[in-house]
Amino acid sequence: MDYKELMEKRRAIRDYEDRDVPLDVVREIINDSIKAPNAGNRQIWSFIIVNSKARMKELSDLNKKTVLAGIEANPNSPMKVYEPMLRNDDYNVFYNAPCLVYIVGPAKAATLAPDCALLAAYFMLAATERGLGTCWVAQGGFIRDPEILKELGLPEGYQLVAPIILGYPKTIPPMPERNAPKILKVLS
Ligand SMILES: Cc1cc2nc3c(=O)[nH]c(=O)nc-3n(C[C@H](O)[C@H](O)[C@H](O)COP(=O)(O)O)c2cc1C
Repeated sequence: MDYKELMEKRRAIRDYEDRDVPLDVVREIINDSIKAPNAGNRQIWSFIIVNSKARMKELSDLNKKTVLAGIEANPNSPMKVYEPMLRNDDYNVFYNAPCLVYIVGPAKAATLAPDCALLAAYFMLAATERGLGTCWVAQGGFIRDPEILKELGLPEGYQLVAPIILGYPKTIPPMPERNAPKILKVLS
């Protein structure tokens, strides 16, 4: 796949075939993703793989509950717009994808967000190149229950940064239109 095709085919996929992703393929994608640039080559990222639709459904329900509790506590929450969707029992925040990879890292690391976001971009491109679809699902990162985080294997002091779903896409949608880039100034 050439670069242009890769850029076109890497879309947020929200509709998946009922087909598992072999763990070896997930590992290959992870091995490609760690080639991402990262501060000081410290490679502070780690991965948690959830390769089970049933476990993902449990996590989805937990996420929905946490976000809804937040909305109830703060009716001005920006998440309020999602309330009707979150109250719909048929809505799974992970869109029934067969696999989920949490990119995680030490919460106090100064470069946690950029390092993990760059890695996530590489991960999504590496998956696309293999005919897989992905979507970064921020709504899948609202897990606060220490017991669940322990069960996920999240080390003490670590944070879930990027929940990325993975699977074989039913279709690849066209790219949602982009605004013209705002180049604020050219100094020359
Ligand atoms: C940080 C981040 C968080 C996102 N969270 C969600 C989410 O919770 N649910 C969702 O369906 N898509 C989510 N997305 C996907 C975006 O909606 C999607 O990338 C955007 O609409 C552009 O579409 P494209 O990726 O096909 O170009 C997220 C993307 C990013 C980068």
